[in-house]
Amino acid sequence: MSITLPKQISSQAKYTNLESYEEAYATFQWESVDDFLHRSGKMNVAYECIDRHVENGFGNKVALHYVNEDEKRSLTFEEVKIKTDHYAAVLKKHGVKKGERVFVFLPKNPECYIAILAVIKIGAIAAPLFEAFMEEAVKDRIIDCGGTALLTDRELQKRVPANEIPTLRLILTTEEVERTQVDEEPRIEWADPEDGFLLHYTSGSTGKPKGVLHAQRSLVHHFQSGKWVLDIKDTDVYWCTSHPGWVTGSVYGLFAPWLNKATIVINGGRFKAEDWYSLIDELKVTIWYSAPTAFRMLMAKEDIVENYRLTSLRHILSVGEPLNPEVIQWASRVWGQRIHDTWWMTETGGHLIVNFPGEKIKPGSMGRPFPGVKVGILDENGNEVPVGNTGQLAIQAPWPGLMKTIWNNKEKYESYFPYPGWYVSGDLAYKDEEGFIFFQGRDDDMINSSGERIGPFEVESQLITHPAVAEAGVVGKPDKLRGEIVKAYITLRYGYKKNDQLLDEIRQHVRKNLAAHAAPREIEVLDELPKTKISGKILRRVLKEWSAQ
Ligand code: PRX
Repeated sequence: MSITLPKQISSQAKYTNLESYEEAYATFQWESVDDFLHRSGKMNVAYECIDRHVENGFGNKVALHYVNEDEKRSLTFEEVKIKTDHYAAVLKKHGVKKGERVFVFLPKNPECYIAILAVIKIGAIAAPLFEAFMEEAVKDRIIDCGGTALLTDRELQKRVPANEIPTLRLILTTEEVERTQVDEEPRIEWADPEDGFLLHYTSGSTGKPKGVLHAQRSLVHHFQSGKWVLDIKDTDVYWCTSHPGWVTGSVYGLFAPWLNKATIVINGGRFKAEDWYSLIDELKVTIWYSAPTAFRMLMAKEDIVENYRLTSLRHILSVGEPLNPEVIQWASRVWGQRIHDTWWMTETGGHLIVNFPGEKIKPGSMGRPFPGVKVGILDENGNEVPVGNTGQLAIQAPWPGLMKTIWNNKEKYESYFPYPGWYVSGDLAYKDEEGFIFFQGRDDDMINSSGERIGPFEVESQLITHPAVAEAGVVGKPDKLRGEIVKAYITLRYGYKKNDQLLDEIRQHVRKNLAAHAAPREIEVLDELPKTKISGKILRRVLKEWSAQ
């Protein structure tokens, strides 16, 4: 497809240190990013995000703006340092030690970001949870890694079934932390680059969610991609719309921008087109990182765009799901801006396929490999396929952001490396003659709805706890707005009759126990589910085909 895009957003948009993508790709080596290895090889992500800037004289710079309807607050780097120190001291006072898994279950507000950094400051492992999770989802994740402590607020605490989680010995609300007196300032716990600091639970096509553990060394990846791909400069106001419970919200909502000393924007509340546009105008957002579903929702409200100026914006990025050429074209026409797609995963810890500002964009493509990254499109024997052929999207391992392991599941970790030297993503793609990568779908049953990763097994397991449901098969049904929606095929137990009220009750059951975004938007009752002849396993592949008809 051929469309006209603005060539360059502004002269500012050119990234600072290198002349061109080709030059960067030919010369860059991860080892050259040695800014953080100045403490005899030790590091601490939280120190590098906040304390370093205060020590270097930037304490008065605004670190964050928070907006939630009528509530507005801003904090400087100095103020964020004081707060993270306090949170860290309180955790220490309660005996939290290096390496313990500390969950952070908070809405998208400054305390959520501060709590995550405080956990990392004392060398513990921060495990952020998405704010929409309900009891079962919270419980499964904490139990899996033997989480010992949890930072939350009074509202979300109601969804933590503490007496069913034996390892959890400490729950603190932010209110409690704020009013706890501490005498000592905590010292930074210097860590080895291989020490874990962040644990994100993520779903796959089978089994319960897996804990993806990231090591301190990832900060090299966060920093460099923040500098080149997000294109952060000292004067920028940067807004990432994702919650830190998702990897985009932690890596590119918190670590990458703060490693690059950006002023970040934290937005509370739900999506509303009017609020999003006002936020950009009021805070003069310059860089904006969001997802295709959000862009499509804004596209559906084109009539309101003329009420806003949006002149501060100079760089827009997208992640999480396929960015359709129509959206790129629309943004170019209505916002006068290009959207820069990026591809990566929870497991990869940072951008791997990107569009640099100022470089050519091919709508429909996710971009080209980040310098220092080699992408391969592989056949079933692990050999690279010719240009233009679809195969398994794989990356030559390792790179700094690559996960350290899957918590307590070495076998699962190893399954990402079926061929020597390659990390296999589970996505399908092809490469063109210029090295641009085109996404072609998933190689498994993982569901991607609005850019959020949903495991069919988790939803199926929840569905069959409802007394009316005998069996369940869950798939992603193609959807124009959300990419996919969760669709459940079920059979009913003897004595239950299909009716709208029952189906709604079943849907609410998943919403109440797992999470709103994981509840099936459609439920279809069948007499029988398609199964394999020999093992009797439900054939999601067949259900997926039916859902697309
Ligand atoms: O299928 C790909 C899709 O999202 C998956 C990773 O999901 P998650 O770990 O939740 O991370 C999301 C954001 C880092 C991938 O395997 N995905 C991610 N980016 C894109 C994408 N699909 C198409 N285009 C993208 N740019």
